[in-house]
Amino acid sequence: MRIFLFLYCILGYYYYCDATKKFPETFKFGVATSAYQIEGAWNEDGKGVSIWDHITHTKPYHIKDNSNGDVACDSYHKYKEDVMLLKDLGVDFYRFSISWTRVLPSGYVNKINWKGVEYYNNLIDELLKNDIKPMVTLYHWDLPQTLQELGGWTNPLLEEYYAEYARLCFKLFGDRVKLWTTFNEPDLVCRMGYGRNLLAPAYNSSGIGDYLCGHTLLKAHAKAYHIYDDDFRKEQKGQIIIVLEFNWFMPKTNTTKDIGAAEAARDFSFGWWAHPIYLGNYPKSMIDLVAKKSAKQGFPKSRLPTFTEKEVEYIKGTSDFLGLNTYTTFLAAHMENTNDTIVSSRHDIGYSTSIEPKWEDTANPLFKMVPWGTRQMLRWIKEHYNSPEIFITENGCADKDALDDQLRIKYYREHLKSILDSMYEDKVNVTGYTAWSLMDNFEWIDGYRTKFGLYHVDFTSPNRTRTPKCSASYIKKLIKTYCPVEECE
Ligand SMILES: *[C@@H]1O[C@H](CO)[C@@H](O)[C@H](O)[C@H]1NC(C)=O
Ligand SMILES: *[C@@H]1O[C@H](CO)[C@@H](O)[C@H](O)[C@H]1NC(C)=O
Ligand SMILES: *[C@@H]1O[C@H](CO)[C@@H](O)[C@H](O)[C@H]1NC(C)=O
Ligand SMILES: *[C@@H]1O[C@H](CO)[C@@H](O)[C@H](O)[C@H]1NC(C)=O
Ligand SMILES: *[C@@H]1O[C@H](CO)[C@@H](O)[C@H](O)[C@H]1NC(C)=O
Repeated sequence: MRIFLFLYCILGYYYYCDATKKFPETFKFGVATSAYQIEGAWNEDGKGVSIWDHITHTKPYHIKDNSNGDVACDSYHKYKEDVMLLKDLGVDFYRFSISWTRVLPSGYVNKINWKGVEYYNNLIDELLKNDIKPMVTLYHWDLPQTLQELGGWTNPLLEEYYAEYARLCFKLFGDRVKLWTTFNEPDLVCRMGYGRNLLAPAYNSSGIGDYLCGHTLLKAHAKAYHIYDDDFRKEQKGQIIIVLEFNWFMPKTNTTKDIGAAEAARDFSFGWWAHPIYLGNYPKSMIDLVAKKSAKQGFPKSRLPTFTEKEVEYIKGTSDFLGLNTYTTFLAAHMENTNDTIVSSRHDIGYSTSIEPKWEDTANPLFKMVPWGTRQMLRWIKEHYNSPEIFITENGCADKDALDDQLRIKYYREHLKSILDSMYEDKVNVTGYTAWSLMDNFEWIDGYRTKFGLYHVDFTSPNRTRTPKCSASYIKKLIKTYCPVEECE
């Protein structure tokens, strides 16, 4: 059975060969996961409650299959096996996250949970023993519930609490961890967690909660960056970045209005974060439009908080390179008759988004396969943000629940080819690529229905047995050859 699957994988691989380029040998390849999606052991060895424990336990209906991350892939107990999978893939690095409440059960640094610290020490040591560099995310969405009850990221005090947590992690793990990520995807944290009722904490306060969240988060990010830069970098010699998610926007039609809407959508999703960090302050379009709408609605000042000049300078330049997660492309259209009485970030900017039905499907209907969109996006970032070094920290697609995942292989291959074109044709400086994800896991509100893994996980077995899919062979070969297709070897 295994041998047939193997042959099938290889045949699938040959079937799709058609390009001629390779990645440079300095290029880094890895795979990613996050704590809540894989660890399980939600209350073991002194771990505290996070907002994802809380929402899945108190509102199970919020998750499509009523599931939760209580056990997930059980990586808390199976981390050694996972490191063996990583070693077999041959990755340069493994991107994973630390669960804040495993290290600090109450959220505050006054009480360290040494069992939790030990888990991450063991994982880091096991990776290094196998020549795999840890790339560690400090915040991948699992805020301590205690801090949520103080308003979560809408509370400016979280800047300080987060910074102290970050400092502790640098102190505990920074002798071995040389690649730090402050936050994963602030856009989803704030837009989907505070602006909509999708991700925890599901505040549904568009046009207010999302902006407050973003303001605190950007300051917290900058503070952690400066702590590392001032107190740790000299001795530990590592790098620290933020990971932004950017799904490209194409205008729905070629009218001037829709072209403007697409540009506005880019500013309001990616620029919201990249502009303060790379250029200083929020994008001008965002500042102006929110101020205008707020005034019309009778707010005494803009709903988008203002940075002082000192804060603008403090935040600018706080990412050693750009960590970029990307999955798909959407259409953006100008919204006629935006309603001035509605408080919402969409109405502030006046665009609506949709999905182009003609583009190729993945197993997730919201995420079409649009590799050429990725290339346009990379060029746009280069042109608008002074050619930063870009490290792809997540890319991948959902496929049907099968070991023969040819659609996923195609997705990876086509995106890698687009990235090569960006590098060689458009001179975009891309230096690394991370496949999401090492294995099937808890996909937030989709639960376990949506499968992104290179490894299949049997969630019906207490062993959570891992089995390689065809895409694992593909990625393994890619890493060995630096080549997404056959001909360039
Ligand atoms: C979220 O807010 C919108 C706009 O105010 C409202 O229409 C919608 O019913 C809210 N949804 C929930 C679940 O509260
Ligand atoms: C817009 O114009 C471009 C270039 O002429 C073309 O490739 C594209 O298909 C057009 N898009 C639409 C939605 O008409
Ligand atoms: C704007 O929205 C409000 C309530 O959400 C509604 O009462 C009003 O009729 C709308 N105005 C227009 C012009 O659509
Ligand atoms: C890409 O960025 C890295 C890090 O800043 C730098 O060392 C390298 O020279 C750059 N490569 C190109 C082609 O610009
Ligand atoms: C789980 O793993 C143990 C030890 O490897 C094995 O003995 C057992 O049969 C497995 N159980 C299942 C249901 O796969």
